Amino acid sequence: MSVVVEARDLRRVYAIRRGLLRAPAQLQAVGGVSFSIEAGKTLAVVGESGCGKSTLARMVSLIEKPTEGSLRLDGSDAVSTPAADRRRLRQAVQLVFQNPYGSLNPRKKISAVLEDPLRINTGLNATERIERARAMLVQVGLRPEHANRYPHMFSGGQRQRIAIARALMLNPKLLVADEPVSALDVSIQAQVLNLLADLQAEFSLAYLFISHDLAVVRHIAHDVLVMYLGHVMEQGAKAKVFSRPLHPYTQALLASTPGVGSPAAQRIVLQGELPSPMNPPSGCVFSTRCPYAVERCRAERPVPQKVDERLVACHFSTQFLESGFPASAGPNNASRSA
Ligand SMILES: Nc1ncnc2c1ncn2[C@@H]1O[C@H](COP(=O)(O)OP(=O)(O)OP(=O)(O)O)[C@@H](O)[C@H]1O
Ligand SMILES: [Mg+2]
Repeated sequence: MSVVVEARDLRRVYAIRRGLLRAPAQLQAVGGVSFSIEAGKTLAVVGESGCGKSTLARMVSLIEKPTEGSLRLDGSDAVSTPAADRRRLRQAVQLVFQNPYGSLNPRKKISAVLEDPLRINTGLNATERIERARAMLVQVGLRPEHANRYPHMFSGGQRQRIAIARALMLNPKLLVADEPVSALDVSIQAQVLNLLADLQAEFSLAYLFISHDLAVVRHIAHDVLVMYLGHVMEQGAKAKVFSRPLHPYTQALLASTPGVGSPAAQRIVLQGELPSPMNPPSGCVFSTRCPYAVERCRAERPVPQKVDERLVACHFSTQFLESGFPASAGPNNASRSA
């Protein structure tokens, strides 16, 4: 299978102004994330609010440049793209947002929404464009005559189908979906997820799928990347990560989603607040909330290591693999559930 996107050490730092006389503060939203996605595969990015998921999505969909790192898309360098390649790359990656209400212009008929990308980027004539738009509506489970309606005449689920149709008009290789079903009712979520799976199979699409909902991720992902405060905690095949999470943060996330985790994941309950990304903890960024943290964790940031066929950024991942999570470890163990 061909690799559609390959990211190496992507980093994004924002300068936050603090008034005229003080130097801007630095906020590292994404601190060195690497992954690749093959055609037909889905990488899900999970983590709490503010961990950098949308920032990563904006970098991968070429909306924002990374502060550091490299990004290859469809075989080309997507950071310092030669002008001749830019248009092709912008077509190769498309974004679907969370909010299907805000992302469609209320004054435009669906036909215009779907035809605009063709008008701008292809030489198709009016008849060819409307034919393509109608065919795409059918492809996403709507009807050809829906092309004559306005966005307000559709339900949330239908609007998200239209947003997906618009994203697919130029035959992209990669779809970046940022919480695409989070605003929908649970019953509608499943339908849209099934649609995404069908479209992926039909067009060999690669998906970067952002979600805070592990039940959704279990449904759709091949690989999973667990982020915390901009850093990767655990990364690998979904089957591995979900059946035997080796990072305490992954364990905690799985334990907080009923019906998703393995029995071993029922142990950790996250306590305390997410630290400010302007002032991240020293050493392991998760150490202030980790029930197993010891002195070393606060002093030394763990580098992601290959353990049991996935990457884990934890000093104790091998021990966790060999002997399970300790019954009592570290000074914070009062925060573990019974
Ligand atoms: N343009 C920006 N300028 C300054 N800080 C930003 C900017 N965009 C994001 N951030 C900060 O970067 C961090 C990561 O934000 P991001 O939106 O990527 O998180 P997220 O994981 O998508 O969260 P959520 O689940 O709430 O959508 C946050 O602390 C956020 O405040
Ligand atoms: Mg976000």
